[in-house]
Amino acid sequence: MSAPRLRLGVNIDHIATVRNARGGALPDPVRGALLAIEAGADGITAHLREDRRHIRDEDIRRLMASISRPLNFEMAATEEMVGIALATSPHAACLVPEKRTERTTEGGLDVIGGHDHIRDATARLKAAGIRVSLFIEPSPDALDAAKSIGAPVVELHTGAWCEAVTEGSDSAPREFERIQIAAARAAELGIECHAGHGLDYETARIIAALPQVVELNIGHFLMGEALFVGLPKAIAAMRAAMDEGRAGA
Ligand code: PXP
Repeated sequence: MSAPRLRLGVNIDHIATVRNARGGALPDPVRGALLAIEAGADGITAHLREDRRHIRDEDIRRLMASISRPLNFEMAATEEMVGIALATSPHAACLVPEKRTERTTEGGLDVIGGHDHIRDATARLKAAGIRVSLFIEPSPDALDAAKSIGAPVVELHTGAWCEAVTEGSDSAPREFERIQIAAARAAELGIECHAGHGLDYETARIIAALPQVVELNIGHFLMGEALFVGLPKAIAAMRAAMDEGRAGA
């Protein structure tokens, strides 16, 4: 049986980061989202952080009103964010851990220690028809906890592996094996498997060969490439890398 199509979710947070650096309205992340969709993105991801350092509440409202593909709303499992998600009804909500001082999402959710709290947030979002994914470390224990929480989807944190690949570290094969095992465990548990964080053309091509992974969410690398070649070309090249990797699945 051939692997299902691999979707590309484009994270547009950094367009808002650049906008906010000047305090004006440009560059507009919604324009970026529309361009990304035109260039082949299957969905748009945006993270409304507690400190609103990039995406703002109004961006989420404008995205919901403007884009023709699903919005994946990245959020901490706080009362405030659950309230915004329920009021906005995005297609999906990806629950992530959030620390004020971090530069980006540094680790997966603590699905074991925070089990009951995350289960409650998940249940409220699911009851509103929002597809919930949990951003977790690629470990069988985290997968088992995600199952017990009732999450239909997980997103495996690929950051440690991508960093190891970039640094040429000996740990890269071991980190990839963790992802491989976690993806297989997700399939056994009947949980849809996504992956993201730190992916570039090379790592996207490699991970695309895992047939259980059906969506990649990519931001930083694509926005960096867009500075040099433009967003449509960067997305087309990413799509080509994913398709190439998938062909070998
Ligand atoms: N998935 C999640 C849950 C994230 O928090 C992030 C970073 O915002 C990404 C994917 C995308 O990571 P990157 O920007 O490194 O491609």
